[in-house]
Amino acid sequence: MKTYILFMGLGISLGLFFLTAPATVTFESKESKTFAEGPVFNRIRFIPGWKRDIWIMAQSHLGLHAEFKNWNKLAIVVDKSQSPTVATFYQLKQDGKMELSTQPLPYKARCFACHADGPRAIRWNHESEAIVPNALESAALTVWNLRIKIYGHVSSQAGTTFQDGEPFRAEQPVYKRPLGIATCERCHSATGLRNALSLEHLGTALFLVRSGYMPPFPFQLTAQERTALELIR
Ligand code: HEC
Ligand code: HEC
Repeated sequence: MKTYILFMGLGISLGLFFLTAPATVTFESKESKTFAEGPVFNRIRFIPGWKRDIWIMAQSHLGLHAEFKNWNKLAIVVDKSQSPTVATFYQLKQDGKMELSTQPLPYKARCFACHADGPRAIRWNHESEAIVPNALESAALTVWNLRIKIYGHVSSQAGTTFQDGEPFRAEQPVYKRPLGIATCERCHSATGLRNALSLEHLGTALFLVRSGYMPPFPFQLTAQERTALELIR
C-alpha cells in the first residue's frame, strides 16, 4: 500500500513536471562570451523523439533584448539509432522560430572545437544581472543535462559543407594531435565513456578545468598534468 502511494505520488509529480515544463529556457552562458568578454545569451529547446532528438539553440551576442529574429540559430540532431550515437550540426537561417528549418547556412563558428561529443552540458550564470532561470526552468535544464550526459560516447559530424564560412572542424593536422592527459583519457578516448579530446579542444578543456568542472570528482589532475595543460597553449 505504502509503495503504491509512493508510486502514485511520483507519477503525479512527474506528470505535473511534464505538463508545466517550459518549452524553451533562456539563460546567460557561463562558458560563452563575446569577443569583448561580454555576456552571451542562449535560448534552448529540446524536441525528443524515438529515433532522433533535436536540440535548437538561439544565441545573442548583442544582449538579451536584441530582436529575437536576429538571434543566431543553431541545431544539433542526435541520431540514437546508430552506434555510436551520431550528432549532426547545423547553422540555420535566423527567423525567430525555435524549429528546425530546411535552409542550413555556412557555419559561423567551428562547432567541433567546443562540441567534441555531441550536445554540451548546459552551464548558466546563476549570478547574471540580466536573466536567471526560475525553479521550473532550472529543473528543465537539469533534466536536459541528464539527457545530454546519458548520450555517452557521441560522434560529432558536419551536417552541411559550404565553401565559405567557418569549417566544421580545424583542417590543420596539428589540431588532431591528442590532448594526451592520462587522467582525462580515463573517460575521454576513442573507446571511452566520452569521445577523445585533441588539441582542437584545448580552449574548452582549459575553461572546464579552470572552473573546476573537469575532471569530475573524485578524479584529480597530477601537478605535472596541470602544468602540461597550461603549457600546451
Ligand atoms: C566556443 C564554444 C562553442 C562553439 C564554437 C559552438 N558551441 Fe554550441 N554550445 C556551446 C556550449 C558551452 C553549449 C551549452 C550551453 C551553454 O552552457 O552556454 C552549447 C550548446 C549548443 C546547443 C544546444 C544543445 C547543447 O549542446 O546543449 C546547440 C544546438 C549548439 N550548441 C549548436 C552549435 C553549432 C551548430 C555550432 C557550430 C556552428 C556550435 N554550437 C558551436 C559552445 C560552443
Ligand atoms: C570520470 C570521467 C571524466 C573524466 C576523468 C574527465 N571527464 Fe570531461 N567530461 C565527462 C563527462 C561525463 C562530460 C559531459 C558532461 C559534462 O560536461 O559535465 C565531460 C565533458 C567534457 C568536455 C566537453 C566535451 C564533451 O565530451 O562533452 C571537455 C572538453 C572535457 N570534458 C574535458 C576534460 C578534461 C580536460 C579532463 C581532464 C582534466 C576531463 N574532461 C576528465 C567525464 C569526464
